[in-house]
Amino acid sequence: MEARLSRRRFIAAASLAAGTTPVAACSRAGTTYAQAVAQTWRALPPGQRLEHRALQRELIRYATLAPSSHNTQCWNFKLETARISILPDSTRRCPVVDPDDHHLFVSLGCATENLVIASLAHGLHGEASFDPAAGPGVRIDFEPAKADPSPLFDAIPRRQCTRGAYDGQPLEPAELRQLEAAASGPGVAVLFLTARAQVQQVLDYVVEGNSAQLTDPAFMQELLQWIRFSDREAVAKGDGLFSRASGDPSVPRWLAAPLFNLLFTPKSDNEKYTKFIRSSAGIAVFVADASDKEHWVETGRCYERFVLAATAMGVRTAMLNQPVEVAAVRPQFAAAIGIGKRRPDLVVRFGRGPEMPRSLRRPVDAVIIS
Ligand SMILES: Cc1cc2nc3c(=O)[nH]c(=O)nc-3n(C[C@H](O)[C@H](O)[C@H](O)COP(=O)(O)O)c2cc1C
Repeated sequence: MEARLSRRRFIAAASLAAGTTPVAACSRAGTTYAQAVAQTWRALPPGQRLEHRALQRELIRYATLAPSSHNTQCWNFKLETARISILPDSTRRCPVVDPDDHHLFVSLGCATENLVIASLAHGLHGEASFDPAAGPGVRIDFEPAKADPSPLFDAIPRRQCTRGAYDGQPLEPAELRQLEAAASGPGVAVLFLTARAQVQQVLDYVVEGNSAQLTDPAFMQELLQWIRFSDREAVAKGDGLFSRASGDPSVPRWLAAPLFNLLFTPKSDNEKYTKFIRSSAGIAVFVADASDKEHWVETGRCYERFVLAATAMGVRTAMLNQPVEVAAVRPQFAAAIGIGKRRPDLVVRFGRGPEMPRSLRRPVDAVIIS
């Protein structure tokens, strides 16, 4: 209670200090948060005629609208005439939360799926392949095809990871079947947990994993590096976890960072997760047949189709990966959901609810390499 009261007072004071004025940013100097959101998430008209290089850049911008763990945007894009390669950016690894690069390769899979969907909307079939022996990233080879501006393409600039309370209503069985169909892919399955007892079980593991993470100094140190506490900081960096996207106020880093451990406690955070999970229609767990980079990329592709299909249906989603990130909790969680020795890859809640403030992305030029 003590911590919650002081948190509220702190937030009130800090919000006053933060303001919403234009910022002198390194990548988007003089740009407000609202302008950066409009630039980042602008829709690409399907079939718009662009010369080859301009189209490639727009397709890459759409790829970067994909989710990535901690919004690290852990990718680089290499352009060739009829191929784009998506390469891991090892400078953006998160060794504490993601020691084996599982999330990094899932994130590359998400970007791959966006790129393939956006290309098809512009008359290019992209064949994606991932062979660690041939190179570290995903190669997408293009050939002309009939343009297909699918509902998933339309959903790319509208998708977000919505970290808020949902309306507590279930989804129709037909909607669940639609989501399941979107999420299915080679070697990847999705489990839907919608019964109250199943959801409570997931909540218990989220709380256990979250408590372990928030009391781990190394986890907190890494998380702190990726939080963007204010509109100004989010615009300047164009990456990271934006406070307002998680329902927290915009506060300058100099004020927020020293108090981070004090205010961001397991008790208050677990209460928030309890509310969020109980307000959701259900939980989806992605499980691949094997645990290697190839399957992690494929899981990312399936997850991305799932969230785009959800967006197209007006359904929100948010990740809850604590039970799969904490190595000691993961096997217990796997046993509890009945997947035996397989590794649970991603945990996602879904339901209907209001939009939250958007996360940002770095400009396309920052991710294209020669
Ligand atoms: C592999 C992976 C793991 C993620 N894990 C979590 C998570 O555990 N909790 C969470 O709130 N968001 C998680 N996210 C979502 C990202 O934080 C989010 O995509 C990023 O902040 C950008 O926000 P946006 O997706 O709304 O644009 C994850 C995303 C990916 C791709």
